[in-house]
Amino acid sequence: MENQVETIVIGAGCAGLTAALQAHEIGKKVMILEKMPRIGGNSMRASSGMNATETDLQLKNGIIDSSEKFYNETFQAGGKMNDPQLLQYFTTHTNGAIEWLKQYDVDLGDLTTLGGMSLARTHRPTDTSPVGAYLVKKLAAAVENAGIEIRTDCKVTNLQQNATGFQLTVIQNEKQLHLECRKVILATGGFGASKELIKQYAPQYADFKTTNQEGATGDGLRLAQSLGAQLIQLNLVQIHPTVQQDNQHTYLIGETVRGEGAILVNNAGKRFVNELDTRKKVSNAIIAQPTGHAYLILDQKVFQRVKALGFYQSVGLVEQADTLAELASQINLDQQHLRETVTEWNAAVKKQNDAQFGRHTGMRTLDTAPFYAIHVAPAVHYTMGGIHIDKETHVLDENGNVIPGLFAAGEVAGGLHGNNRVGGNSIAETIVFGRQAGIQSSKD
Ligand code: SIN
Repeated sequence: MENQVETIVIGAGCAGLTAALQAHEIGKKVMILEKMPRIGGNSMRASSGMNATETDLQLKNGIIDSSEKFYNETFQAGGKMNDPQLLQYFTTHTNGAIEWLKQYDVDLGDLTTLGGMSLARTHRPTDTSPVGAYLVKKLAAAVENAGIEIRTDCKVTNLQQNATGFQLTVIQNEKQLHLECRKVILATGGFGASKELIKQYAPQYADFKTTNQEGATGDGLRLAQSLGAQLIQLNLVQIHPTVQQDNQHTYLIGETVRGEGAILVNNAGKRFVNELDTRKKVSNAIIAQPTGHAYLILDQKVFQRVKALGFYQSVGLVEQADTLAELASQINLDQQHLRETVTEWNAAVKKQNDAQFGRHTGMRTLDTAPFYAIHVAPAVHYTMGGIHIDKETHVLDENGNVIPGLFAAGEVAGGLHGNNRVGGNSIAETIVFGRQAGIQSSKD
């Protein structure tokens, strides 16, 4: 197949870009197809970081972590519904992923802690900027340097298998074309932007807004299913607890804002949950408040630890005041309650004992003006279910047999996260399993 594309990757988020680069490194001729006008997918919106264990950065910060601990915490957070083999592969390959990224000038030199983890495991850019856009930019530059062709505005409408590989029908700039290759990697993302599929599989969230980019409509699921793939756990849909949604656009307020010290209060100005419990628990706690929404409260110290906060402020999502009393009156909370809540929280941080809600990570006193508030409520964020794969990213059919030549990686695949994905595991998954798809698809 000289001069012909050996592998076609469908989807140009972090999983697709990684898979293509990895296969190219091994010497395969690869092409990437992306249905949207721009690359990046939902990866572009990932904010907080990339989880990894046993890394140099953790050790330099005195953090003694282990893949077993990572496994156990992720399994617990996922309601023990995670596929053990995928999880085992994942939790033992994140350090390798961090090392692999370094060759592409990726500098994840800062650490934070997200919900459901006992220590700082979330690696993020040294300047604390959002991880997703940063990684997409670096990976896209590497793809370009490698001479890998990316076609945008190119939607795969049909995928057929024949004796030598696959035939793809694509619509590119309104023209129908046919492409051929030996291997296909599906990296098309989840279905969090499809109202129809959310209504079908998680009707309880049918009226929720979404954090997803509009292309996340489950196309890869349909393509895989047309070749006999098994789809699993489609009813497991994650809502993200802190989404600003007062206007037409929804803005995900990254979990790292809480990881760096913000608290959540209800309309009475009181805390009501361990803010760094799992997303499932924090979202449910917000929904259980009489108003169904909450406020993130933070101070200047937290603000300086999360670059995205400057962006949230620039688009009008953040209330700011010189005192807590002023902040409370700006957002119509009881001044005394908010002051008492923050005083109690600061005392708990100093004692390192949150007797009320048992929070033990991301503890930082809120005592440095100005103070800030962001109004948040849960929104659809991530689809944990998807195409059934094995740990080599082969797509499996209804009987558990490998569909030869067909691979899937990233949010389009199901099973890794159980019933609740841990923040920071999605970006890690795109790199770990994107690489794995690139490697396994390169076997003859
Ligand atoms: C966040 O930073 O809270 C979103 C990214 C993720 O879902 O891991």
